[in-house]
Amino acid sequence: MTTTAPRAVTAACTRRLRGLIEEIRETVDRGLPPDLTAYLVGERLAPHLGAPDLLTAEHCEGDPDRYRQHLLHAEADGSFSLVALVWLPGQQTSVHDHLSWCTTGVHAGEESERRYRLISDGRTARLVATEDVVNPQGTVCGFAPPGDIHRVSNSGTGKAISLHVYGADLARLGSSIRRVYRLPEER
Ligand SMILES: [Fe+2]
Repeated sequence: MTTTAPRAVTAACTRRLRGLIEEIRETVDRGLPPDLTAYLVGERLAPHLGAPDLLTAEHCEGDPDRYRQHLLHAEADGSFSLVALVWLPGQQTSVHDHLSWCTTGVHAGEESERRYRLISDGRTARLVATEDVVNPQGTVCGFAPPGDIHRVSNSGTGKAISLHVYGADLARLGSSIRRVYRLPEER
């Protein structure tokens, strides 16, 4: 992944994006449990999805080699971060889980998601796919670990862009990924 912004809101940040960051700050500052925070952040995110004045042209740029992460904002106290992920057709993540609660919203295009459970007998563990979901433009999802193993891909024919809010400091961590899981066919 490529990260392309300094820690704070950039000068190129749009007025609407600044407003969204303020709305997220108000929600996170309530100090509610992670799953509830993720849900409520989703309610603030949803009305902005698809708005043409939300992101700059730079924030919508992809990378032919891999899906691209644009860091839009990292809160000074590390309590949340906002990124735009840009996917060209066929690009996908690893199978992974997360360091913190997360809220996602599809801004453009559509994303496909395969969810997994880790089944363990105490000695060995294996991943079992439990659900395939297609998230069209406007879809909002909120979740908190554990039980958040998934892979996201752009299986459509056009560019896909999603906004992700994490309860973590991505300016410091670089990514929200806690652990990458290798499927047997990938080893
Ligand atoms: Fe993820």
